[in-house]
Amino acid sequence: MSDPVVQASRAQRQPFVRMRNATMKFAGVTALQALDWDIIPGEVHCLIGENGCGKSTAIKILSGVNIPEEGTVIEIDGTPYPHLTPAQSKALGLHVIYQDLSLFPNLSVAENIAMDDALHSLGRLVNRRQMIERASAALKRLDVHLPLDEKVGSLPIASRQLVAICRGLASDARLLFMDEPTASLTRSEVDSLLGVVRRLKQDGIAIVFVSHRLDEVVEIAERVTVLRDGRKLGTYPAGSLDDRKLGELMTGLQIEHKVRAHDCSAAAPILEVRQLSRRGEFRNVNFTVHKGEVVGITGLLGAGRTELALSIFGMSPPDGGEIRLDGQAMQARSNRDAIDAGIAYVSEDRLSIGVNMRQSVQDNMVLAVLHRLASGIGWVSPASRHATAAKWRDKLRIKIPALEAPVSQLSGGNQQRVVLAKWLATDPKLLILDSPTVGVDIGNKQGIYEIVHSLAELGMSVLMISDEVPEVYYNCDRVLHMRSGEIVDEFVPGRDSEDHIREHVYA
Ligand SMILES: Nc1ncnc2c1ncn2[C@@H]1O[C@H](COP(=O)(O)OP(=O)(O)OP(=O)(O)O)[C@@H](O)[C@H]1O
Ligand SMILES: [Mg+2]
Repeated sequence: MSDPVVQASRAQRQPFVRMRNATMKFAGVTALQALDWDIIPGEVHCLIGENGCGKSTAIKILSGVNIPEEGTVIEIDGTPYPHLTPAQSKALGLHVIYQDLSLFPNLSVAENIAMDDALHSLGRLVNRRQMIERASAALKRLDVHLPLDEKVGSLPIASRQLVAICRGLASDARLLFMDEPTASLTRSEVDSLLGVVRRLKQDGIAIVFVSHRLDEVVEIAERVTVLRDGRKLGTYPAGSLDDRKLGELMTGLQIEHKVRAHDCSAAAPILEVRQLSRRGEFRNVNFTVHKGEVVGITGLLGAGRTELALSIFGMSPPDGGEIRLDGQAMQARSNRDAIDAGIAYVSEDRLSIGVNMRQSVQDNMVLAVLHRLASGIGWVSPASRHATAAKWRDKLRIKIPALEAPVSQLSGGNQQRVVLAKWLATDPKLLILDSPTVGVDIGNKQGIYEIVHSLAELGMSVLMISDEVPEVYYNCDRVLHMRSGEIVDEFVPGRDSEDHIREHVYA
């Protein structure tokens, strides 16, 4: 990146994409305002900014999903277009990998990779040998190995992502957009994805990367474009920035990091987990969360953290051991039982079990408390529904045009807050947060942390699962380290340093 020869030759290169004055409005509300943006062949370009600042909107203009306002110019290889259709965009070599990856789980790896070919030969028989060749050529370019005949649905998320990238390569992409590709990956998976990105770059493919993990942005990008409230703040060489500076640029705020660990051991135990085991997932897990305490669980992929949380939440019964909530032995047979006992669970995967995208913000928020809002005859008045939803919208500062809008129209980070609101509305004794800030920008992350702290001060107990060490370090009273299904360490932030915890976790 710092090689002067490479930099000089890049400077002479014409931009592949030049956007000028790109503007997008939704029902009169401006989501993107007069964006000028260049993307050069073979560069890794990060697009960052707070939730709802217009990142996905900019990408969707280039992929032909959004039709921008008049006056917008999109130049591809020097040819101007007022807007693009999805087919044009594809034919010009622009390829978007959306967060849901848009793969077909019931088709094989090879079929998914060679998908676009297959679509073009509609009505004709797809030649299986050609399909396999094309798929393995794409895999080879990335130097990765995946079982070509395996159904995509049975692969882990990191492998599915590789399939999605290969699909772009097989359709001769020249620019790959990755919208939050690392949101559901663990650190080691992120590293291997970044390796793949470097390889693509050597092939002259431009990569636009949207991410809220600023440390990885600094690591991978050559240039960073920062948006704020639909406007471009600037494009910066990544070498001139670190994650703290980026955070300040995005938010316009100075973010203060401070350890908050308190000793809560004298407070009443709210969650007591004793010798809890579930075959193949976790063994002999023991820990306690006291009233008003925030306990973190960190560890790598496959450590069993989410499995443990799901057992506590009644979704997968343990084979042995005991869970006590507020002094009572729990025999939750379902998450309904766990909710009634006073447990709330904000899942890491908001897209599958967190929210219903087609339903309104309001309906999602009141879903878990409908039975409490209901009058004696089981009827929920629109007014009480609205009031509950409005209260949480304001408390969590969720940016929405109307409570009646479907969740799918919110930006990713605001969707995450809808999930949080839905669970807080149940007024739980124990709040389990599983990777609560995945896909949430740094300013809003801080907002979520503040909410967690104030809930803890009011006496709520919180179990926070996260593979981001700083997240547990700065927000928890104690941190448990889980590895291969067991709790192997307990740390106290402040007494133990952040680096010390990191060394143990990534050892
Ligand atoms: N289809 C739509 N209808 C109405 N408003 C929309 C639609 N799509 C996006 N918006 C609005 O446009 C603004 C920009 O949204 P966008 O999805 O581009 O944000 P983002 O920068 O990608 O945020 P995040 O980091 O949360 O994903 C938001 O206020 C969003 O609510
Ligand atoms: Mg987005």
